[in-house]
Amino acid sequence: MRVLAISGSPRRNGNTDILIHTALDVLAAEGVETDFLSLADHPVKPCIACGGCFRGDEVRCVQKDPAFDGILDRVAAAQGILVGSPVYFGSATPQTMALLDRIGYVARRHPDLLRRKVGAAVVVARRAGQNFTFAQLNYFFLIAEMIVPGSNYWNVAFGREKGQVQNDTEGLDTVKTLARNMAWLMKKLDG
Ligand SMILES: Cc1cc2nc3c(=O)[nH]c(=O)nc-3n(C[C@H](O)[C@H](O)[C@H](O)COP(=O)(O)O)c2cc1C
Repeated sequence: MRVLAISGSPRRNGNTDILIHTALDVLAAEGVETDFLSLADHPVKPCIACGGCFRGDEVRCVQKDPAFDGILDRVAAAQGILVGSPVYFGSATPQTMALLDRIGYVARRHPDLLRRKVGAAVVVARRAGQNFTFAQLNYFFLIAEMIVPGSNYWNVAFGREKGQVQNDTEGLDTVKTLARNMAWLMKKLDG
């Protein structure tokens, strides 16, 4: 059982990465294999609506983009997908949505890429827009037939400068509870 965690922050080791690693530590302790992908290291191009993913039977995006190459394999190998994004002007980052648009369109053609896998989002904001962004990411999971675990609060936390999210203990606890529920759900679905 594996979770692919995608950080949509362009800022390495920032607040989004901290939230994701908080979740991954819990998942690892629960015996779930983890795979971390930072879009700061893989600047993925956006979807160009070429429709190439609908041609042929191969699970692929036809755009030439070394950063994207291999990501579909990592998605296919995971039973859970954790997406983290900072809030940028009230929504998820362009980096996050560029990747999700492309994975999502391939999955329209090949639904088993995401169908009945577990999807969860974590979001960090300085001040506002976190609920919209949280909903935005959950819309992605729900149109892809994914199953979304909850926590004891919405999976949002606050911080501005790198590391500030460490001060939001309630936010970190929410993410830990989410990760425990994600592991629980994945084990149920695996059985
Ligand atoms: C371009 C840009 C837009 C932002 N827009 C918002 C916003 O709408 N609401 C908010 O609360 N914070 C906003 N922020 C602050 C970030 O969400 C915040 O600094 C967050 O902790 C960054 O996460 P990171 O460390 O993972 O990059 C914005 C930051 C940037 C760079």
